[in-house]
Amino acid sequence: MSDLPLTERNQRPAMARKKVYLETMGCQMNVLDSELVMGQLRRIGYELESDMTRADLVLLNTCSVRDHAEQKVLSRLGSLTKPKLMNPDMIIGVMGCMAERDPESLIEKMPHVELICGPNELNKIPAMIGEIEETRSRAVALSQDFKRKTTPLERALDYDSVEALDLSREPDPGQNSLQAYIRVQRGCDKFCTYCIVPFTRGLERSRPASIIVEEAKMLADRGTKEITLVGQTVNSYIHQESGLPIKFAELLSRIDEIPGIERLRFVTSFPGDFDIEIFEAMRDLPTVCEYLHIPVQSGSDRILKLMNRQYTVGEYEELIGKAREIVPGITLASDFIVGFCGETEDDHEATKELIERCQFKNIFVFKYSPRPGTASFKGKDNDVPDKVKRRRNVELLDLQERISLANNQSFVSEVFEVLVEGPSKAAAKAREAEESPRVQVGWRNESQLVGRTRHDRIVVFEGREELVGQLVSVKITSATALTFHGDVIEPVSLGR
Ligand code: SAH
Ligand code: SF4
Ligand code: F3S
Repeated sequence: MSDLPLTERNQRPAMARKKVYLETMGCQMNVLDSELVMGQLRRIGYELESDMTRADLVLLNTCSVRDHAEQKVLSRLGSLTKPKLMNPDMIIGVMGCMAERDPESLIEKMPHVELICGPNELNKIPAMIGEIEETRSRAVALSQDFKRKTTPLERALDYDSVEALDLSREPDPGQNSLQAYIRVQRGCDKFCTYCIVPFTRGLERSRPASIIVEEAKMLADRGTKEITLVGQTVNSYIHQESGLPIKFAELLSRIDEIPGIERLRFVTSFPGDFDIEIFEAMRDLPTVCEYLHIPVQSGSDRILKLMNRQYTVGEYEELIGKAREIVPGITLASDFIVGFCGETEDDHEATKELIERCQFKNIFVFKYSPRPGTASFKGKDNDVPDKVKRRRNVELLDLQERISLANNQSFVSEVFEVLVEGPSKAAAKAREAEESPRVQVGWRNESQLVGRTRHDRIVVFEGREELVGQLVSVKITSATALTFHGDVIEPVSLGR
């Protein structure tokens, strides 16, 4: 008990928690990294703040995959010049791939950035903050893995150091932990000629299977029902255990056995490294979802070669043919780059034909963006005009929209198992707009919910909020190219 009189005790300010604004751009790796870094910051007394100008610490977790992603970061940093002048104690930090790619020009353009941390050094952020507070000088942590030509021993030591971040994982008790990412590998060593990832994340390193399984168990114990294993080429996963190689299919089967895990997904897969056991695992293991994100990038062999993708269109189609043969009802998603160096109208037509033949569930299309340091930046001309890239981009998306719509409509009146993720975006927005939703409205009995099928199809339906986190059966009543609408039904009888 305090000796202070009650009134005085009440006037004492509570130990103020510091505020961090943390914004994440880029891929699933960054989403996971942000979660892990936030866990570490919470331990040193930070809480999340959604207004950047009111934060003690602003951290941008950045992506370098396209120039557009970097421009967004620069403009965000530009808008912080004034708040930093008003509050010189504010720490502005850039973490992730852009920090690693070109720290010098970042500092030159944005001298108010005080913390620069590459994606392989993120466990150092709490110490870096302490250092900045103490010395008020810039703290920089980069691995520059690719430039350093590290020895295997040095790489192993680096690995231990970065592994500490994932090992420190402790989910925020206040956060919805229904779905979680787990990293299975870092980096990439495919060196597609357009891609910056091997330069920012370093070469491919798989994490030990036993550690991944422990992480999955810990998450399952805390209520996680759906796990997505993340890596740039997850299917190339391989790690030695007691002298024997553990491959990806074996890893899937070990996680499948964990009680409480209802669904297991993985992204992204590399077409060149598939083995049939992975498809068999998708067919045989109850938790593994029948959905594969397997980017092809182009429908032209000439372009695939220039991209150094290490497979042909024919091999890709053979592979997805096998996937469809072994895993009934499997859905496929893919990525495409339009306007790569030297891409002709014939190459583009070949891509359209491939999309027509493959009948993907959905595709992601990107305009080629030359990345300094990559092979295509150095050795090839970015010779497709932006106008042409834009037109090709729209053409691929239009084509896919037609395919998705026809495909989705064929499922009307079928029943799917849906994992309920939360209120649909529209419903969540409407709720936010209400003044004091919890007091005035409380939990409504019925509202619009959103969930996903095992095949990664989005389903919107009316239902009670208590269904969030549950698996329900939904009968599809209508479909657009992107979304299904349906009704929850009982009893459970499932279609695919
Ligand atoms: N590891 C994954 C994807 C990583 S990046 C894979 O290889 O499949 C995600 C997507 O960004 C890629 O699939 C590619 O379509 C796109 N991308 C990568 N570099 C790009 C660049 N320089 N310009 C445009 N798109 C790019
Ligand atoms: Fe980049 Fe290619 Fe590696 Fe994917 S496989 S991350 S596109 S280098
Ligand atoms: Fe971007 Fe880095 Fe991911 S470049 S796509 S955030 S690995």
